[in-house]
Amino acid sequence: MSELNKTALKIVSSGKGVLATDESTGTMTKRLESVMVQSNEENRLKFRSILFSSKSMNNCIGGVILYDETIKQKCNKETIPELISKSGAVPGIKVDTGAKELARSKEEKITEGLDGLRERLKNYYKLGARFTKWRAVYSISDKYPSKLAVNVNAHALARYASLVQEAGMVPIVEPEVLMEGNHSAEDCFNKTSEVIKKCFDELIFQKVDLKGLILKPNMVLPGSKSNQKISSDEISELTLKCLINSVPSEVPGIAFLSGGQSELEATKNLNTINKHNKSKFKMTFSYGRALQQSALKHWSNNIDDAEGTQKVFNHRANMCSLASMGKWTEEVDRA
Ligand code: 13P
Repeated sequence: MSELNKTALKIVSSGKGVLATDESTGTMTKRLESVMVQSNEENRLKFRSILFSSKSMNNCIGGVILYDETIKQKCNKETIPELISKSGAVPGIKVDTGAKELARSKEEKITEGLDGLRERLKNYYKLGARFTKWRAVYSISDKYPSKLAVNVNAHALARYASLVQEAGMVPIVEPEVLMEGNHSAEDCFNKTSEVIKKCFDELIFQKVDLKGLILKPNMVLPGSKSNQKISSDEISELTLKCLINSVPSEVPGIAFLSGGQSELEATKNLNTINKHNKSKFKMTFSYGRALQQSALKHWSNNIDDAEGTQKVFNHRANMCSLASMGKWTEEVDRA
C-alpha cells in the first residue's frame, strides 16, 4: 500500500471525517462578525484551538483542513499541526487562492493558485501538512455551468492534485456544485454528475494516483430557492446514484461538504446515505459550517468558556461520526 493511500485511508477511517477550518480570513471575519466577535488573529486562533483540543478529535476527526494563517500559529508552545497530530488526526492545508471571475464567462468562476504551488507545497509539508484541499465552484442556471467552466476547473483540479501527490501529500479534490439557485434536484444530479466525470477524466489523463486522493463533493439537493421538497431518502438515492456512476472504484474516500445545509440536515442526510450505501466507497463528512455553527454561537456568548464550547463541538462531531457509520438517530441528537 502506498504512503498516499495509507494517509487517505487514515483520514476517512471508520467513524472519522474531516473538520474544515480553512476559512480564509475574509470568510472567517464574516463568520465572527455575524456573532459579534471581533475578527483578529488572536480570536481566530482562540476559537480554532479550542476545537483542536477537544476530546472528540481523538475518535471523530481523521483530518483537519487549516488555512495559511493557522498552520503557522502556535498554542502553548506547540504548533497547530503538532496539536492536531497529537489527537491522531492528520493536519491538512487549503492551497487554492480562491475562485475568481472566469474570463469570457464572467458570471462563472475559475479557482486560482497554481503559480508557485510546487514551492508552497514544499513549505506546507515542512510545517506538518500531509493533505491539501482545492475547491472549484459551479453554479447552476439554465446556462450554467458552461462546458468552459467545467473543463477549465477540472484541468486546474488535476494539475493541483498531481503537484500535491508529487510533494507526498493527499489532495482533496473539491468540485462544489452550489446549492444556491432555483434548480431542481434532478438538475443538480445532472450537473454534479457531469462535473465529477470531467474531473476524473482530467485526473486520469494527468496520471493522478486515484488511490491517493479524497473526493469532496456536494450532496445532490434541490436549489435553496426552489420550492421542491424532497426527503432524505430521495437525497440519498440521487447522491449515491450520481457518485457510483461517476467515481472510479479506486478512490478510497468520499467526504461531503455541508454547503449551507443546517447541522441537522447535513447529519441526517449523511446518515441516510450511509444506511443505503452498498458500494465500497467510504462516505463521510468534511464539514465546515455543519460542525462549527453551534460551537461558534456558544463561544461568542462567552469567549472564555472553552469547556462549554468543546461540549457543544463534541456533540456535533459525535453525531457526524455516528452518521458516517449510518448509526445516527434524531433522538440521540436531541438528547
Ligand atoms: P461547508 O461544510 O461549510 O460547506 O465547508 C466545507 C468546505 O470546506 C468548503 O470548501
